[in-house]
Amino acid sequence: MTSDAPSTPAHEADPEALAGLAAEIAKSTGLLIRELRAAGVSVAASKSSDVDIVTEADRRAEQAVVEAIRAARPRDGVLGEEGAGIPSESGITWVVDPIDGTVNYLYGLPAYAVSIAATVPDPAAAADGRRAIAGAVYAPPTDELFEAWEGGGARMNGTRIAISGETRLSHTLVGTGFGYTAERRAEQAVMVSRLLPRARDIRRLGSAAFDLCSVACGRLDAYYERGLQPWDYAAGFLILREAGGAILGRDAETPPGEPLIFAGDPALVEELRGVVLGAE
Ligand code: IPD
Ligand code: CA
Ligand code: CA
Repeated sequence: MTSDAPSTPAHEADPEALAGLAAEIAKSTGLLIRELRAAGVSVAASKSSDVDIVTEADRRAEQAVVEAIRAARPRDGVLGEEGAGIPSESGITWVVDPIDGTVNYLYGLPAYAVSIAATVPDPAAAADGRRAIAGAVYAPPTDELFEAWEGGGARMNGTRIAISGETRLSHTLVGTGFGYTAERRAEQAVMVSRLLPRARDIRRLGSAAFDLCSVACGRLDAYYERGLQPWDYAAGFLILREAGGAILGRDAETPPGEPLIFAGDPALVEELRGVVLGAE
């Protein structure tokens, strides 16, 4: 069986059960990384630049997630930030960020999370051609578990959540993030300088998954970022959409993803995009 010919069509999977599994694994892995942090953080390597770091905990956490997924669903694929790349035989691929917010984790800032999503192929949903049908984001510092499944709404610690409903850009608290290379930062500086005079304020929390969940529960009104990878946004996109949010890409032809992501109230995101891109 190959990933091109799934024997169990993805739509036959039960999204609620997949969300339960994602939540269970995200929480147990979150507790693991919190314990590892208490024992001290060791930087294992760097990636796109020497400040884009990987810790031993990132690797241990990804290994724990992959083992738990494979034990529960041996025919599903796994794509993980730290290198997991197991092809799917079922049509479902789990997309995993074992620690989203590694720099916060290193410094002891309380904004990092484990992000896990069960995805199916869908070229229109996101730039990587996948759509999450179930997912969970667990933030150990605040003991908050965000979860969603397609059509089932979004929850934080079991309670339904919804976006803030703010549609006035001038009153909007906007989250964003910055990449790790000087070239990417220079572009991002131009974008943020266009928005700053037009919005209530900007927040850079340091974890894209947590940013998307923060919009989903109304702690931020909107969010945008350039350069995100599938593991940063897979679960967060679903949680935000199920909470009533809209997500746009760079333009009408480009699905949201690495090139650009704009998220917020459906009545606000187009204006946000226009301002950030210098069109308004
Ligand atoms: C990063 C965080 C950050 C975002 C970066 C990501 P990592 O993920 O989500 O908020 O601005 O683009 O790379 O490296 O901590 O997993
Ligand atoms: Ca990440
Ligand atoms: Ca990460």
